[in-house]
Amino acid sequence: MTDSRSWAVEIESLSAWYGENQILKEVSLKIPRNVVFTIMGPSGCGKSTLLRCINRLIELNPAARVKGKVIIDGVNVYDSGVDPIQVRRMAGMVFQVPNPFPHLSIYENVAIGVKLNGLVKDKEELDDLVEWALKKAYLWDEVKDELSKPASALSGGQKQRLCLARVLAMKPKIILMDEPTANLDPVAASKIEELMLELKKDYTIIVVTHNPGQAARISDYVAFLYLGKVVESGDAASVFTRPRHELTEKYVIGRIG
Ligand SMILES: Nc1ncnc2c1ncn2[C@@H]1O[C@H](COP(=O)(O)OP(=O)(O)O)[C@@H](O)[C@H]1O
Ligand SMILES: [Mg+2]
Repeated sequence: MTDSRSWAVEIESLSAWYGENQILKEVSLKIPRNVVFTIMGPSGCGKSTLLRCINRLIELNPAARVKGKVIIDGVNVYDSGVDPIQVRRMAGMVFQVPNPFPHLSIYENVAIGVKLNGLVKDKEELDDLVEWALKKAYLWDEVKDELSKPASALSGGQKQRLCLARVLAMKPKIILMDEPTANLDPVAASKIEELMLELKKDYTIIVVTHNPGQAARISDYVAFLYLGKVVESGDAASVFTRPRHELTEKYVIGRIG
């Protein structure tokens, strides 16, 4: 697999700064298609920053600067002429704290991005898309009779699945998830983990966690990030059973983090 289109995402020598402070240091990763690829590492090592570089959300922070390449489906998203809005649609993000619009209805929360981007032509098409996305996010059965209720009425786990439905409605290629279960109870968290395993059939999922146990349960591939550098990466089974680097070993057995 040498052709860049063989990979869902290729990250090449990516560095990022907030002001003078260098957060990511020459990060390079190759992410295959239709896998759960986990970025793990202790708090503050740069995991969220890395995700935000992948879909250019980082640029919303005026103090941030990025160098290097992020190639999605053969296109460097940092090339001039690439529209960052398009990139964020193609690589949708689910955040650590579920962030639906609390006063908007369940329906509108799923529909809003699609409507703002003029991606559907009529109400019927929108209804179908909302239903499809809610089903895909395993939420439909729980909410189908109360689509007009505000999102604030949902539980934490439901809110997170609603945010996922909102991302799916935009028809992304890649789904970025930043500690998506960190604020959920164990039952809600395991539902999200199950969902990732289902969704990878159709999407490439890049998930950040600081929990090595979760990383071991869900990952096909992992990268261990430490102080802004990739210490090692590879298929999950090898990294967990035969870490090549002492730092990874310590992390995996729970001594750092
Ligand atoms: N908006 C920001 N402005 C300045 N520094 C930041 C900002 N966000 C994160 N940082 C710093 O960047 C480093 C990495 O943060 P982050 O990517 O959030 O790490 P992680 O997600 O692994 O916990 C930390 O030292 C953090 O303090
Ligand atoms: Mg983070």
